[in-house]
Formats: sequence, C-alpha cells, structure tokens
Amino acid sequence: MRVKVLKGKLSQFKCDAAVVCHFEGDKKLSGAAGRVDKASGGLVREVLESGDFEGKKGQIAVVYTRGSIPARRILLLGLGKKKEFNLEKSRRAFSRAAQHARDLNLKGLATSVDFGDIGQPPGRLAEALVEGVLLGLYHFLPYKTAKEEIRAGMKELVILEDRGKTLGEVKEAAKRGQVISGAVYFSRDLASTPSNEMTPTILAGRAKELGKKRGIKVNVLDVKGMKKAGMNALLGVARGSHEPAKFIILCYGGASKKERPVVIVGKGITFDSGGISLKPADSMDEMKADMSGGAVVLGVFKAASELRLPANLVGLIPATENLPGGGAYKPGDILRSLSGKTIEIVNTDAEGRLLLADALTYAGRFNPAAVVDIATLTGACVIALGEDVIGMLGTDEKLKNRIREAAEETGEKLWELPLWEDYAELIKSDVADLKNTGGRAGGAITAAVFLSRFVGKYPWVHLDIAGPAWRKKGKPYIPKGASAIGVRLLVRFLIDRVKGTGYRV
Ligand code: BES
Ligand code: MN
Ligand code: ZN
Repeated sequence: MRVKVLKGKLSQFKCDAAVVCHFEGDKKLSGAAGRVDKASGGLVREVLESGDFEGKKGQIAVVYTRGSIPARRILLLGLGKKKEFNLEKSRRAFSRAAQHARDLNLKGLATSVDFGDIGQPPGRLAEALVEGVLLGLYHFLPYKTAKEEIRAGMKELVILEDRGKTLGEVKEAAKRGQVISGAVYFSRDLASTPSNEMTPTILAGRAKELGKKRGIKVNVLDVKGMKKAGMNALLGVARGSHEPAKFIILCYGGASKKERPVVIVGKGITFDSGGISLKPADSMDEMKADMSGGAVVLGVFKAASELRLPANLVGLIPATENLPGGGAYKPGDILRSLSGKTIEIVNTDAEGRLLLADALTYAGRFNPAAVVDIATLTGACVIALGEDVIGMLGTDEKLKNRIREAAEETGEKLWELPLWEDYAELIKSDVADLKNTGGRAGGAITAAVFLSRFVGKYPWVHLDIAGPAWRKKGKPYIPKGASAIGVRLLVRFLIDRVKGTGYRV
C-alpha cells in the first residue's frame, strides 16, 4: 500500500473516504473534524446529534457527503475519552477504520493528524496511525488459490497536513511507520510460512537475500562450521532431523567501527515436535512458528537498515528443526556446549535454551554493548503472564528499563519476571554441570536462569514471546496467526538508544 503525506486540507481532498476523529463526550469538534464538518455543511455534527455515534474507542460511522466536499464519504472514528488517549489508542482505532474501509471495498483513505489540541506531537500520531492502518490490514495469503479469498485490498493512505511547520515531521514519521510496518510484515510472513517451506536452509537463504538487498553482511555457519566451533548443544538438537542446521550471523554497521554492537539473538526452531519427548498433537501445527524470535531478528535488521540507524548490530539465529528421527538426541544424553559447560538432557522438548546457550556464548566474541535474546521459549511463561505478554528477565537494570520504556511506547505488553539465584537449585544435574529443565514450577524463570549460565560479561536481557508470538484470535492490529511481536519493540529500543547522536526521530 502507498502511504503519502501531502500539504493541504482534508476537507478539500478527493478520496473514497476522509477519516475524521472524535473523542467520546467532546462537545466541540476539534482539528480536522471541525473543518470537515464546516465544509460539508454540518454532516459530522448531524451524526453526533443523532446519537448514533458517541466517539467510543474504535466506534465507526460512515456518512455519504453527496458532493458537499470532494471526499465521497466521511468515516467518523471514535478515539474514546480524551483523558485516556495515547498512541496505542490511535493505533487500534485506525486499524479498525482500515479494516472497515477494506470490508467496504474502498481503495483509499485520507486523514489528518490534527486531532485538536491533545498534547501529542503530530509526528508520533502519524507514525502510530500508519502502523495501525498497515498492521491491521495484514493477511497471509500466499497459499490461497481461490480468487474470492484474495481481496484486492486498499491501495492508498493519504495524510493531509496543512500546517507548514509540522509537514516535514509528519512526512518523516509516516515514512518510519511504513518502514517499521514493512519489517513487521516481513517477520510475520517468515513466521507464518509452514515448516516444509521454512527450513533452516530456507531461513538462512532469506537472511542472505535480505543482506544482499540491504547491505547487511550475512554469514551462515553450516553443520561443519558449527562442529568446528564446538556448538554441540545446538548440534545435539539438530540430530533428529534430516534438515541441516544453520547458524545465521548478520552484521549491520551503521556506526563507527569502534562502537560496540548490540547483539540480538533469536530462537530459530523451524519446527518443534518436542523430539523424543514428543509434544501432544493438539496445536502442534503452531510450532512452525517456533522460529518467531529469529524472524524478529530479521525484521529488526530490515527496519534498522532502511532507517539507516546509526548503530552497530549483530544478529544471531541458531536454526534447526527439533524432530525425533533415528539419530535424535535422547533424554539422559549429555551435551558439551560451546562454553565448555556440560548439559544433561532431561526433556528434548526444552530445546530452545540449548540453541540459545551456544548463541549467547558466541555473542561474547563481538564484545557487545548489550545482548537481547528473543524466543518462544516456554509454555510456562504463557501460564504465568497470559497470551498477550512478553516475559522479560535479565541481568542489567538499565537495559531492562530501556526495553520496558520502549514497550510502553509501542504498546507491546511486557512484564518482568525475577531472575532469582535460588532457582539455580532446580537445574542442577547429578552427572553434568546443568540439566535442561527444572520441572514445571517456575518454568519461565528456570529457563532464563539456565540461559544466564551462558551469558558473558555483557548486559543481557531475555524476552520470552511464547504467548504473544502466535495469536489464536486476532486483536485490533494483530490479525490471527504470527504477530511478529518484538520487532516494533526492538526497533524503538534501538531508535531511543541513538537519540542525541544527531539522528532525527
Ligand atoms: N517452543 C516451546 C515453547 C512454546 C510453548 C512456545 C507454547 C509457544 C507456545 C519450547 O521449546 C518448549 O517446548 N518448552 C517446553 C519446556 C519444558 C519441556 C521444560 C514447555 O514449555 O513445555
Ligand atoms: Mn520445545
Ligand atoms: Zn521450542
């Protein structure tokens, strides 16, 4: 979809529908809504006075303008109470507006970020509404062959800005919203693709393709390379599958070579059957998205390169299937990880932490300023926090705070769990240095404590996205299926990190 920002008035713009916003309970029509009302001879006020529309969150009324203004329709959009307004509310409301317009078969929408005096910079509003519109319209369609399933969809979103002094800011922000949404689409597509067409080899291929297009260095270790390095925890998991494992390394250099990089590690299990400790059949299909963390890493690199972020980034994606083939690793096996620490396997379904263990050790080679790993790691995290929430654990307060702040900005729900040392008891092994599970109780925490044993001398945060990475039911701007949760969060974290370097945000 095209997104354009034009200088001009919404009330004078020809389009399928002009979206104007209203706050619940507001007597006055403010900003663009007031001007569209005036130009149309009071059409907006008429709807309000009828009582059909109050401006509740996400509420929509469509009015036909009958030539009173160039727009064919006015789409009145409720933003809820002014006092409770924030960027997340506009993201959600605009995703509803876009979905409504799509269902009416409209080809384009126009709107304005002049919502009246609400104390939000126009740029941030533009970014949020572009995200709402684009993300709400996401569909995963490459496998649908029936024509009626493939909607033509909307072609254009135009933001009219008549205030000369904020035009530049709105243009940049809309562009940023588009870039970030594009990265989310990319990441959602990767995670949605079934495992027969998203093997570790294919995932590595997609990373290389991205690297070529965007000038990102991409290096892929194959099984031989990983053996040589000593990544035997990862290789242990890979043994049950015929698909060769890959260790994907991305390097984006947006800053001076002297600057230490941020390393982002993403779990890349392209299918998790559980291995010999086989999962039950129910919902096993969703385990095609067990590489969601890896897909987030690729999305973040796409966005960072398109935004030309002045930062150095390293991405690590340990990728393999977890299958119960004849060569599969078995409960009771002991693996010698890249760090040298030995791990007793208690349950082959606790495979993610084994890949991450080797990747976190490997991350130390880059002398990182910070390391963030993101993984669909534990069902226990879903039980603890619910399906909507990212679990956060880590060793560095400052880093955790920065990520918490980024999540507040992007509307991705995140909650910290404690990384208490006492839990280490639970993953002690009689025969090896560690065992790979600590039982059901506190499973999200013991998993993170396990990871912490492989963390080097760098600030580290672990994000468990087992709940929100895959949605059984849709939310306003997150349709059913892969959500790519974490892409917007990490991009925002990276943008906030470079504020003050002269980079304009
Ligand atoms: N990929 C799963 C975690 C998961 C569960 C992701 C549900 C998304 C939705 C992970 O590899 C796993 O199987 N974890 C086990 C660990 C257990 C055996 C200690 C789990 O959570 O049951
Ligand atoms: Mn598993
Ligand atoms: Zn898994």
